[in-house]
Amino acid sequence: MFTVKPWSSAEVVHEALAIGLFEGKDSWSGLAGEYDSRLGGQLSNLRKEGDISAKRGRIATIHTMLPTGVKRLYFVGFGKKEELTFERLREVFGKLFRTWKQAKRTEAAIALDTFTTETVDPNEAAHALAEAYYLATYEFPGYKQKKSEPDYALESLTVYTAADAAEIEASLFVGSVYGKATNSARTLVNTPGNLLTASDLADYAVELAKRYDFDYEILEKEEMERLGMGALLAVNQGSKQPPKLIVLKYQGKEQWENVIGLVGKGVTFDTGGYCLKPRDSMIDMKTDMGGAAAVLGAMEAIGELRPEQNVLAVIPATDNMISAEAFKPDDVITSLSGKTIEVRNTDAEGRLILADAITYAKQHGARYLIDVATLTGGVIVALGTDKTGAMTNNEALFEQLLEASMETGEFIWRLPITEKDRERVRSSKIADLNNSPGREGHAIMGGAFIGEFAEDTPWVHLDIAGTATTKKDGDLGPAGATGVMVRTLTAFVERFE
Ligand code: BES
Ligand code: MN
Ligand code: ZN
Repeated sequence: MFTVKPWSSAEVVHEALAIGLFEGKDSWSGLAGEYDSRLGGQLSNLRKEGDISAKRGRIATIHTMLPTGVKRLYFVGFGKKEELTFERLREVFGKLFRTWKQAKRTEAAIALDTFTTETVDPNEAAHALAEAYYLATYEFPGYKQKKSEPDYALESLTVYTAADAAEIEASLFVGSVYGKATNSARTLVNTPGNLLTASDLADYAVELAKRYDFDYEILEKEEMERLGMGALLAVNQGSKQPPKLIVLKYQGKEQWENVIGLVGKGVTFDTGGYCLKPRDSMIDMKTDMGGAAAVLGAMEAIGELRPEQNVLAVIPATDNMISAEAFKPDDVITSLSGKTIEVRNTDAEGRLILADAITYAKQHGARYLIDVATLTGGVIVALGTDKTGAMTNNEALFEQLLEASMETGEFIWRLPITEKDRERVRSSKIADLNNSPGREGHAIMGGAFIGEFAEDTPWVHLDIAGTATTKKDGDLGPAGATGVMVRTLTAFVERFE
């Protein structure tokens, strides 16, 4: 879809050409200036009158009426030069692609070098461009018999730049991978629970494994019983759908060492179990496998980019249902680790299935652990819907993840786990642990509980209950699933040391 070329105005014939504009006079001197003189100064007039503006987020469509060449110029404002960041550029590009999508443009070009500064080089701009294209034009297909709009995609985007074409192509590829993998996660999360059971999730993972040549294993219920995964089995007890433990193995190093374990909560629907959710809170609980989707999205990106790392992905998958056989409050269960758990709340199911998955990951070589989960409503109260809650037992590992998240613009914020918190999750009178020691510090209790299973292995817990979905359409994607943490996990794995 992308073609990278040096600029040569003789050949430039396009339906649309995007030019970036900074605030201040000098930005008018380059390409914009060239078109301005070809159009007899019309563009500077339009700029004076405010039709063309360099303010961030402003996009002006100018029909050139030129007999040949470019039919439409899109002037894209991005504010002050010194304020441009990778993140802002992604947003600006997102808006541009939404504009093109609305206008049904299928052929277009972009003057990439007008979107760069000393701080954002052409390669970063190319990454931002490709990523923004896939994120901004994403749509969940849905199930309507008649679609109101046909699927949109650009057929051709010419990227003009003076930079090295091979390098720019490589950056466009990386950006595309980040964008597409995020969209794959979005689609998984947007898919309703009846159409994405644990078995469906496992089938999806197996396809992914085959496509990227990962070793894989799907643990069935009988195997879980044999191993003693009492926590995952307890959550599944009320369901007609069998549970699956999905395991993918990517080996990018000679030896199976320094393995990064990525563990994602895969609750395909959370009714709350016998601690049943009220009807309004149950809506959207199809998204309770957002952690699993983030891990699978990251594995897709890893399969494409093939970094020199070892990654073990472990996804416990089940729904949380009620029936005569379902687990109940007061039940005591034995986890794979041997630790016993008193179930105080069947709606605190995520930490139970993650407990067994984390133990399994450790038993299979994971030396570092990141778990991702739509774990608690509490994290939404604490941090809102634009910040992922993070908890850890290891500063150095957390720092690396934080750095990755700052690169991708997916905000994470740390919550503490103290000795007192650990005491609270150990507060059961009859078992080693209590899965729900009370409302105070909800999100922290979830993290602290999972931490009991990570033990001494460096570990970060990411609570994405607030960030996995959004109610608003944005420049980088519509309302619904966000695919959050796909990009951060990928960036983290790529740079991990
Ligand atoms: N899946 C929910 C958390 C959730 C809430 C995700 C809102 C997305 C949006 C989780 O399993 C849950 O029910 N958590 C309980 C925990 C409590 C019972 C200890 C909660 O947060 O209320
Ligand atoms: Mn729950
Ligand atoms: Zn849940």
